[in-house]
Amino acid sequence: MRSIIDILDLSVSEIDELISTAKDIIKDHKKYEAVCSGKKLATLFFEPSTRTRMSFEAAMYELGGNVISMASAASSSSAKGESVADTAKVVSCYADIIVMRHPKEGAAYVAAENADVPVINAGDGGHCHPTQTLADLLTIELEKNRLSDMTIGLCGDLKFGRTVHSLINAMSRYENVRFCLISPDELKLPDYVVKDVLEKKNIEFWSTSDLEDAIPKLDILYMTRVQKERFFNEEDYLRLKDSYILTPDKLASAKPDLSVMHPLPRVNEISTAVDKDPRACYFKQVLNGKYMRMALILKLLKEAGQICM
Ligand code: CP
Repeated sequence: MRSIIDILDLSVSEIDELISTAKDIIKDHKKYEAVCSGKKLATLFFEPSTRTRMSFEAAMYELGGNVISMASAASSSSAKGESVADTAKVVSCYADIIVMRHPKEGAAYVAAENADVPVINAGDGGHCHPTQTLADLLTIELEKNRLSDMTIGLCGDLKFGRTVHSLINAMSRYENVRFCLISPDELKLPDYVVKDVLEKKNIEFWSTSDLEDAIPKLDILYMTRVQKERFFNEEDYLRLKDSYILTPDKLASAKPDLSVMHPLPRVNEISTAVDKDPRACYFKQVLNGKYMRMALILKLLKEAGQICM
């Protein structure tokens, strides 16, 4: 049974195919409105979410399918001690596909090993968030008309920001992509991403703590929230939370075709005054995420023999 736990579970040509399906959904929405009729998607969210859960649910409804949902750990039998493995097995009896978010790294993998239906990782701790990356890739493709030949600045919490880890893995597979890693020392990209991805693949990258110095060199600026929920110590969070705040004056030196991205939710990292700048793409990412999730649901249900297209 095919599950998607990591963005690397999808080949570059499969990502191209998903982007092409998403573009077709945007162009001809009506063609897809009953494709998943009679099918059910289960959302199991052991951590808070607005975008990922609601976009998966909207995606399934727009494909003509139905949704069953566990919106919080507290409202499920995991509060009584049921394991992720048992939960996944049980929910397989009710749904044709499962979407799961969990605070523990590796939890989605455990669910996939035990479920009898495809499992999609909607974020596992600080590890990865492959469907946010699908939203990011469609956004970059639509904004730049390419996924190669660019400098991407990643700014903020590069240590705990799972969207950053997944995006680096994904974009490292395209030609001539460079990364500028902008963070305070305490929130640097984990060694395993630096060594196993960037160094291993000989990808050009540099680290800095100076956002303003980096901005003029970038084609994409990917801002991130400092992940309060992953800190052990509130004092450290309070000291680091406002390390970077993007404001219109900081964008004065940016390229005219810079794309400013953020997986959201935003706290303080981007001033709301930036929202009016045509280079702000973060609300486009939200909508693109729904289309890519529609494309992914279609792909997995088709591969599982649940729908024909
Ligand atoms: N970007 C993202 O994962 O948002 P949610 O936490 O609201 O799902």
